[in-house]
Amino acid sequence: MIVGRKVPSVTFRTRIRDEAVGGPNPYRWQDMTSADYFAGKRVILFSLPGAFTPTCSTYQLPDFEKLAGEFKAQGIDAIYCISVNDAFVMNAWGKSQNLENVKLIPDGSGEFTRKMGMLVAKDNLGFGMRSWRYAAIINDGAVEQWFEEEGYSDNCDSDPYGVSSPQNILEALKSEKLAA
Ligand code: BEZ
Repeated sequence: MIVGRKVPSVTFRTRIRDEAVGGPNPYRWQDMTSADYFAGKRVILFSLPGAFTPTCSTYQLPDFEKLAGEFKAQGIDAIYCISVNDAFVMNAWGKSQNLENVKLIPDGSGEFTRKMGMLVAKDNLGFGMRSWRYAAIINDGAVEQWFEEEGYSDNCDSDPYGVSSPQNILEALKSEKLAA
């Protein structure tokens, strides 16, 4: 993704709790657009190969959650985690992680990820099409900084993780502030 480029305009099918629905499972569909998430805000978006996978669940997502206050101090309004998983899976993952700060975005059909140029095959793991791991600082819908793991490829044997870690992005934000 080229710095300065606008993120794609897509509609995400989310599920939100609504007591008015009643019954034992009071959730309903809520369409959210790229504009809803990105317009008028400076945010971090990070994208990973799958909900509940080990690196994502043990390091990347919980570390973004823990460091949310530090990101806020650096002028970040929101932190979003996106994955090619449906809203039911993403909600279950969020619940299991007790998230308060990071918002999960379900890209179940992979449309956003494909239009970002980050969709890769993970058939070697029985996953189908998923996201290559990356993160970005997105300012009012435009990519301000891009953090992509090395080795973008289909059916990659390894799952590189470092460049898109919250620690690395925080470091970049802090050094940018010092240089300003
Ligand atoms: C992981 O996050 O550890 C992981 C991601 C994709 C496939 C397998 C593991």
